[in-house]
Amino acid sequence: MDNKREQYVILNGQLILKKDANISVFSRSMFFDFAVYDSMKVVKGRAFFPRFHAERLLESARLINMRHNLTVEKIESAIDLLIEKNHLENAMIRFLLLGPENDQEEAKLYMFSVGLTFYNDSAYRQGVKAITFHGERHIPQAKSKDLLINYLGFREATENGALDALLIDHDGQIREGTRTNFFAVREGKIYTAPLTQVLEGITRKIVVDLARNNDIEVIEKAPLFDELDSFEEFFFTSTSMNVMPISDIDGTIKKHAPGPITKKIMDLYKEYYNENIFGKIETKED
Ligand SMILES: Cc1ncc(COP(=O)(O)O)c(C=O)c1O
Repeated sequence: MDNKREQYVILNGQLILKKDANISVFSRSMFFDFAVYDSMKVVKGRAFFPRFHAERLLESARLINMRHNLTVEKIESAIDLLIEKNHLENAMIRFLLLGPENDQEEAKLYMFSVGLTFYNDSAYRQGVKAITFHGERHIPQAKSKDLLINYLGFREATENGALDALLIDHDGQIREGTRTNFFAVREGKIYTAPLTQVLEGITRKIVVDLARNNDIEVIEKAPLFDELDSFEEFFFTSTSMNVMPISDIDGTIKKHAPGPITKKIMDLYKEYYNENIFGKIETKED
């Protein structure tokens, strides 16, 4: 992505230059991580599910009891403005909402664009590697800026040639990846952690509805690390990956990927976004 496509940032609905989007080291909201964020993709100039992302940002703020004057409509207008002013074709838009510094101040919503990660076709055809990592997020339903576990897990994954780390919680359950929701399949049924334990990924939400509408049972129960080998298929979902099959966990659990249920979900999701985002336009993704 060239600089021109990142030159503007939106702060509470107003365009500012990237060079002016700075946060002081004295900021209490940064220091205490009193902040929430979201990430939304733009492909071929079209925003992927902007309303869901705007609603989720406000839900994350509610979960940490943050005062603000935002509305879904204001966020949606800011998305349109950023796409227009930064001439976005393929990009990730990040929303960073910093809590008010004191009783007189407003919360600050920064919106900016960064490059979009694309994954090779071979990843979707053959599956990818994941590793496991001990840790769990606090306030798991919120996309809060308290991201150290996510960072450490993801760094270890990258160092080991894996696409993400699966976080093992204090009960030995695998609830989620560091930036992904996690699904396992056994005897035709899909298992994934319940919404009391994880972020409601927008891809997760769509995938669960699609599965149920297509007579695939979804059981909201996080797989235990110790029973992973009893599952036949695994996959991640996320905004940047869509539905990504997993063929290898820790180099010890290896499965043919994508298995039949994963493939069906990949196809249903692709059909869903092609219809809902692009109308009849076809994309080359997964
Ligand atoms: C912890 C966590 N779980 C799941 C997801 C996937 O959510 P989505 O499908 O909305 O990208 C993310 C995305 O950033 C995440 O940070």
